[in-house]
Amino acid sequence: MAVRHFLSLMDLSPEELDALIQRAIELKRIQKSGEIFEPLKNKVLGMVFEKSSTRTRVAFETAMAQTGGHAIFLSPRDTQLGRGEPIEDSARVLSRMVDVIMIRTFEHEKLEHFAAYSQVPVINALTDLQHPVQLLADVQTYVEHRGPIRGKKVAWIGDGNNMCHAYIDAARQFGFKLEIAAPEGYLPDENILKAAGSAAKMVATPADAARDADLIVTDVWASMGQEEEMAHRSRAFANYQVDSTLMSLAKPDCLFMHCLPAHREEEVSTDVLEGPQSVVWDEAENRLHSQKALLEFLVAK
Ligand code: CP
Ligand code: NVA
Repeated sequence: MAVRHFLSLMDLSPEELDALIQRAIELKRIQKSGEIFEPLKNKVLGMVFEKSSTRTRVAFETAMAQTGGHAIFLSPRDTQLGRGEPIEDSARVLSRMVDVIMIRTFEHEKLEHFAAYSQVPVINALTDLQHPVQLLADVQTYVEHRGPIRGKKVAWIGDGNNMCHAYIDAARQFGFKLEIAAPEGYLPDENILKAAGSAAKMVATPADAARDADLIVTDVWASMGQEEEMAHRSRAFANYQVDSTLMSLAKPDCLFMHCLPAHREEEVSTDVLEGPQSVVWDEAENRLHSQKALLEFLVAK
């Protein structure tokens, strides 16, 4: 059978994704019970990071340690990939040694190129286009707090970026309704949006998206690699802050999520981020459990 990759949420079926979320919840229970469970004993994860990371790196590395495997951190500063060794050569060499590879990089095409030459599963740990591993944690967190996400209304407020694209795919795959409020010039990719059909749509204002929402999500206004656009973006996004007024339009039990790192008083007010509807710390912790479930799915056969 062809090797399975996880480059976007579309690489798994809705049934596989639902099972993965349930498994993440179960793996969390196992870890908290103190039981030693090592389905990845002697397995090795290669971690290629061309951008910074706290959560993704620590979650993957901890997941491998807790399941009996090992993780190798590979930065462009000290690998030959960073000195221009071709992607296809790096992919063929690394995948002859390790059992699974995760990549965080800029161009999504680079990840696809790498995966095409890899004989082991490749996981997207964030590209400029997509951030699918974050969605596993977000859906797990919603399910743990509120039950099934199917049929719920989710509001995306802000940049039509990698996280927004992953939310659009998630709306398709997990069966929720996504309403996106993004300023002109910062809209999500047309093809990703079109492919989602009625699962995701653009709305005119943040208030339209927030009204009666079950979950409100935002992200930074300038993603990694866009730092020098920040001044310009701050002006474009000035009316897109998730604050308590916006939250008050949603359902009373609406949750707030943010993949983090967050910029307080920019995309989210401090009182919302630190408030009772915010589940961002659970969301961050669930990166560990959901990525463990993903590794088990791809590797522990
Ligand atoms: N949310 C997220 O991916 O965080 P890191 O950049 O810290 O990995
Ligand atoms: N959109 C953000 C997400 C960080 C986890 C970025 O790409 O920088």
